Amino acid sequence: MKYTSWRFLAAMVAVLTLSGLASARQAEAREPSAEALLNAKCSACHPRTRSGGLFRVDEQRKSPEGWAMTVRRMREWHGLIVSEAEEQVLVKHLADRQGLAPSESAPFRYGLERRTLVESPDDPELAVLCARCHSYARVGLQRRTAPEWRRLAHMHLGQWPTAEYQAMSRDRRWWEIISGELPDKLAAKWGFDSTAWTEWKTHRGPDLSGSWAVSGHRPGKGDFHGRMEVRRAAADSYRMTYSLTWADGSATAGEGRSVVYTGYEWRGATRLGDERISEVFQASADGRRLEGRWYLDDQDAVGADMVAVRGKGAIAGLSPAAVKAGGSARIVVSGKDLGKTAIAGDGLKVDKVISATADSLTLQVSADPSAAAGPREIVIGKAKARLMVYDRIASVKVEPDTMVARLGGNGGPVPPAHAQFDAVAYTAGGLRIGPVPAEWSVANFDEIAEHDQDARFGGVLRPDGRFVPADAGPNPARRGNNNIANLLVKATVTDGGATIGGTAHLFVAPQRWNDAEIR
Ligand code: HEC
Ligand code: HEC
Repeated sequence: MKYTSWRFLAAMVAVLTLSGLASARQAEAREPSAEALLNAKCSACHPRTRSGGLFRVDEQRKSPEGWAMTVRRMREWHGLIVSEAEEQVLVKHLADRQGLAPSESAPFRYGLERRTLVESPDDPELAVLCARCHSYARVGLQRRTAPEWRRLAHMHLGQWPTAEYQAMSRDRRWWEIISGELPDKLAAKWGFDSTAWTEWKTHRGPDLSGSWAVSGHRPGKGDFHGRMEVRRAAADSYRMTYSLTWADGSATAGEGRSVVYTGYEWRGATRLGDERISEVFQASADGRRLEGRWYLDDQDAVGADMVAVRGKGAIAGLSPAAVKAGGSARIVVSGKDLGKTAIAGDGLKVDKVISATADSLTLQVSADPSAAAGPREIVIGKAKARLMVYDRIASVKVEPDTMVARLGGNGGPVPPAHAQFDAVAYTAGGLRIGPVPAEWSVANFDEIAEHDQDARFGGVLRPDGRFVPADAGPNPARRGNNNIANLLVKATVTDGGATIGGTAHLFVAPQRWNDAEIR
């Protein structure tokens, strides 16, 4: 089962054009049509309640992905018949009307952005009860009344009668707990009504069209900066063009489209160079900043963090964001119309403004040999940014520190899922210097892995820190076992004459047969 892709969530433009809703005023008129669809498509199974809403539909709120998942389930399991265009209108309407406030989605954005799913749930009991089969984020990205949390428990057992015996849940009276006391606890923690939502639901998302300065980092490839031109195509729907420059000097152009849900949830589908990417960004309340992650459609572990700003004088980011004491660096400050004045902090000096464009300012910055390691404020016009001064790289952390890659391909229906690592340098005081180039290698994680020669069979770690898993299926060279592996990923960084190492844990697991919008 393939999850509904973000290309789906970014496809509102097509829908609106199809229905001839080109102008903004006409687009507003799609509200009644979404209501009419709810009536026509859902009300047969979801009767009207006394308050006039649809039973089951009206007492829950969730992310656009959460709604996409629910409507897909209606289609795949319960026989709902809708066209793709109708489904897009329904998801948009439901996510706008019953979405999450930015502060509610904040702790779980990693789930939406498809980052590594190694989580630290804030409630250990809930983690055991509800995050053994899927992520804690899937649960934390929902808001329900107590009866709706209870019905969700019933849905689990009704749809998967064996759920009770799965994922080691027989260490406790799982069903009794999740259908008994848990719904009230969940409603107290993640209830349907909240002040944050009451305040947010009246928020009108600002028009995001205009010219944006972009700054970002892609593990395995490096920093980038540039410009994004955004044009409004219909209400909450945009067309974008990108022109980006990478740290190695190469350039990439892109073109895409996006839809903004719930006033801030930007979902884009873009062709960047020869790659297709999905964007999961959030817009700030004032509409002057976009921030989040994009990833390759066919390899979601490979992607980039990105910030875009459009307010005059606003800074999106610095590349690199560190300079070595006694050294000098060429630093690109991405931002909109930054002007030419640049003041550096304690022990730092701007030697020269190398160039200034509408989207960036390139500076030559040097640091005193005696400058103490630590963050400095660099002031440009009215904006400030942080630049790190460091004396030496004392330690290296590999990000993510735990990761799962998946076997695949080999003629089967599921492609392999890669993993991408980045080496991040730190000072002796534990301050983050930033990503640095590294040499990559893998080793067996423990004695069992050593015995089974996991490092030989699991796959290949490329020089750019990207792990490409081996083929799925039985391997005759492993006496018919498959290529699963338990690996230690090692990054080796050189700084001056010193060599510094960092490690991460990589599991190479079997295919992911079922994927969902929120894992
Ligand atoms: C053919 C019957 C049928 C149709 C049509 C149908 N549903 Fe459902 N719906 C169900 C059933 C059965 C459940 C309970 C089991 C489940 O959650 O999958 C359900 C549950 C739900 C829930 C609760 C899910 C949860 O996570 O607790 C929501 C929300 C929902 N439906 C929305 C809709 C919407 C919106 C539509 C129309 C686009 C729709 N349904 C159309 C049968 C239907
Ligand atoms: C035995 C495995 C298992 C356990 C334990 C489990 N879930 Fe699920 N959950 C699933 C599966 C499978 C789905 C459906 C995925 C899909 O629709 O693609 C799901 C779906 C969901 C959804 C999405 C529903 C929607 O469409 O809106 C939520 C929310 C959820 N679970 C919450 C919980 C909570 C809360 C608990 C603990 C009480 C829990 N889960 C425990 C397997 C599990």
